[in-house]
Amino acid sequence: MADLRNNFVGIKSPNPFWLASAPPTDKAYNVERAFKAGWGGVVWKTLGEAGPPIVNVNGPRYGALYGADRRLLGFNNIELITDRDLQTNLREIKQVKMNWPDRAMIVSIMVPCDEESWKAILPVVEETGADGIELNFGCPHGMSERGMGAAVGQVPEYIEMVVRWCKQYSRMPVITKLTPNVTDIRKPARAAKAGGTDAVSLINTINSIISVDLDNFSPQPSIDGRGSHGGYCGPAAKPIALHMVAEIARDAETYGMPISGIGGVTTWRDAAEFMALGAGNVQVCTAAMTYGFKIVEEMISGLSNWMDEKGHATLDDFAGRAVRNVSDWQYLNLNYIAKARIDQDLCISCGRCHIVCEDTSHQAIMKEKDGKRHFEVLDNECVGCNLCVSVCPVEDCITMEQLAPGSIDERTGRIVTGDYANWTTHPNNPMAKPVAEPAE
Ligand SMILES: Cc1cc2nc3c(=O)[nH]c(=O)nc-3n(C[C@H](O)[C@H](O)[C@H](O)COP(=O)(O)O)c2cc1C
Ligand code: SF4
Ligand code: SF4
Repeated sequence: MADLRNNFVGIKSPNPFWLASAPPTDKAYNVERAFKAGWGGVVWKTLGEAGPPIVNVNGPRYGALYGADRRLLGFNNIELITDRDLQTNLREIKQVKMNWPDRAMIVSIMVPCDEESWKAILPVVEETGADGIELNFGCPHGMSERGMGAAVGQVPEYIEMVVRWCKQYSRMPVITKLTPNVTDIRKPARAAKAGGTDAVSLINTINSIISVDLDNFSPQPSIDGRGSHGGYCGPAAKPIALHMVAEIARDAETYGMPISGIGGVTTWRDAAEFMALGAGNVQVCTAAMTYGFKIVEEMISGLSNWMDEKGHATLDDFAGRAVRNVSDWQYLNLNYIAKARIDQDLCISCGRCHIVCEDTSHQAIMKEKDGKRHFEVLDNECVGCNLCVSVCPVEDCITMEQLAPGSIDERTGRIVTGDYANWTTHPNNPMAKPVAEPAE
């Protein structure tokens, strides 16, 4: 049986599934229920400074993007950090940590960007016995307009400065949570590292307007006829998060820095993908808000079964294994040639592959044979683009098959070579210079 125990910057938890800082972790009642359900750790909903609590809107604060079957694909919110009193939160954190010593308890913090504010909050958080802190440099709405959250996370110099204060005034491990609302995620990650962070976590939510009500022309969620941009997350955000995690994992300056992966994790498979791309563990918000805490049971059993099947005894056995396979486009092998193949036994003759290839790709799928509907790939036209695979409603009905070295590519009439050749050496590249395959 696979060992799912996780050690993230010295913080131990029985599995790599943590709840992200958000409503599921806003109070002891929720967190106790989450731990009973099996979550390995939580990042407590972001605390602000002492004083009058934050004020949220009193109407809808969430919006959703649905698939055709009304499955939630994307989630949007205009909620701020915790609107509960600081002392109440601290008391509950301390109690829950005492009740659940084997689970990871991380406290998310967001206070004004000045040394005194950070110096004031760090000792009171440390006093709870929490295992670490997460710096919320990501909140894209409301708090950023007050000079916090993403307003700090978008300026690498501020990140470095605040991380430095946290390391100076606290003994707790520091996880710096990054906003995706930047053009190059490596810059804030490098700044966090320069400030001495123990780890980064990402992504926080993406700036978004989820929809517009066409009756009253209000962006949604609508508050008295007006809407504000919110933070986007959930399954639709996962590809963006995976890319950003990979960028940090393979950057020479941040290589090896621990990463907590966040963004659309809904199944064990999502978690395994994040970890393969360099995350040491994962955090989950939308999936818990969509399906409840018990979803972690499937994550745990699914990951464990897959690890057993693949012979991975511990998380370290596969963590980071995909990082070396993330490449810049220019190094992809241009001699790798694939063609689409349709399994006639699985095909339901819906015609979708034909129409997309005919209208928008390479006219490479016939729709008729001997006067009957029949869908077959024409190798002399197929460029192997994968569009038909992407739209076919039957799983595994269309697959991509690599042409073996020595065979002829009917589209170009050339023999397929087994040699690796990329754009850097391609004759059409005006900048071509003889560059070998990047060292592994
Ligand atoms: C309603 C809601 C409130 C959130 N509040 C916070 C917060 O207070 N602090 C924080 O760091 N992130 C907050 N987040 C962001 C999540 O922690 C997480 O980074 C993001 O939702 C992506 O993960 P997911 O796709 O699993 O939801 C919030 C997200 C949602 C949906
Ligand atoms: S892979 Fe692309 S070009 Fe080939 S059949 Fe499918 S859609 Fe057409
Ligand atoms: S999309 Fe798939 S099922 Fe439909 S005709 Fe093409 S191969 Fe068959």
